[in-house]
Amino acid sequence: MRYHSGMSSLRPWSEVERLLASGDVHGKLSIDDLPTPALCVDLDGLTANINKMAAFAKSKGRALRPHGKSHKCGEIARRCIAAGAVGACAAKISEAEVFAQQGIESILVTTAMVGRYRIERAVKLAALIPDLILVVEDAQNATDLNDAAHAAKLTLSVALDLNVSYRTGVASGAPAIALAEHIVQLPHLSLKGIQAYAGHASHVVGFDARIAANHQAMLPAVETRRALEAKGIPCPWLSGASTGTYNIDSDIDGITELQPGSYLFMDLDYNRIGGTSGTVYDDFANSLTVLTTVNSKPNAHSAILDAGIKASASDRPFPPIVKGIPGTAYSFSGDEHGSLALEGEGRAIQLGDRLELVIAHCDPTVNLYDRIFVTSGQQVEAVWTIDARGKIE
Ligand SMILES: Cc1ncc(COP(=O)(O)O)c(C=O)c1O
Repeated sequence: MRYHSGMSSLRPWSEVERLLASGDVHGKLSIDDLPTPALCVDLDGLTANINKMAAFAKSKGRALRPHGKSHKCGEIARRCIAAGAVGACAAKISEAEVFAQQGIESILVTTAMVGRYRIERAVKLAALIPDLILVVEDAQNATDLNDAAHAAKLTLSVALDLNVSYRTGVASGAPAIALAEHIVQLPHLSLKGIQAYAGHASHVVGFDARIAANHQAMLPAVETRRALEAKGIPCPWLSGASTGTYNIDSDIDGITELQPGSYLFMDLDYNRIGGTSGTVYDDFANSLTVLTTVNSKPNAHSAILDAGIKASASDRPFPPIVKGIPGTAYSFSGDEHGSLALEGEGRAIQLGDRLELVIAHCDPTVNLYDRIFVTSGQQVEAVWTIDARGKIE
């Protein structure tokens, strides 16, 4: 999209600032009034994504616990729960603390509580919200959690973090069973089940190849769950899945909960993996964009934008694209700038124009912003705080 309004139609900046500070923007601000670069979410797209995943999980008889690492926003977590999600995932204890402050009562922290500060903070948080679930991969860490819970006179709910990918967790089978046997001896821990996140399978290109990679990763998790039950260790819960595998894990018997995150916004990294019906994965709308201004126009075939590496994640081997304007090729041009090569329709772009970028990778992009502008067409409907921005410890 290309937006170009004459300066005279814009509100004075002092008024924009006042409206933004009050949050009272509905019907009063257009995206032309916004300072750029600005993180924007299309309300219809976001709402459709929230509802589609919720309806899908329900139709498959699985619980849905969207991962908050993607949005880091209390308002979005609450909207997911209003649509049927059982709670939220948080990547780290600091993110979980923020979600709890935002009224989320059931939180799975998907990274282990290693380190004294994490354990102390986890115990404190468990006393505040009714349903905090922590993951564990190590017996000594489980003992440390138990001791801290004992001192605080409470019981911590824990899950085995199973290594079904190439990152964290205890190995499936005998090591996982030994850890579970240790945990059930500890009076201040309650074993809820298993977390198994097959991150490497999420972005496998091609649906059939993704099914194969995901099955190879997840079947040992399901087997481990069965083996625990066979030993008389209750394991009612197995949480996994991502945006790339939600419709694969949901057909595997024994996986009880889905924890995708990126589906809320989508990004180019997910678009390229292919879906059930073609080479573009388009199950969910690209609701997230970065609004940027053409800040320099050196010549007819290029434009310089005010959005560079500090405006959207640059960790993928492909750049953002300009939404809705063919003949534009973006490349990062340093921290503060992006460079657009223009041809055809793109040549109409002028100094001062505002463009929307569909970004390469949503999670680290969202973490760059304090707020997200909620849009409907050109109108700004609301401004939401990225409450857990920067909460990575
Ligand atoms: C443990 C865990 N679960 C779920 C997700 C959600 O994955 P996605 O955003 O690809 O849907 C992530 C993302 O990195 C994750 O780390």
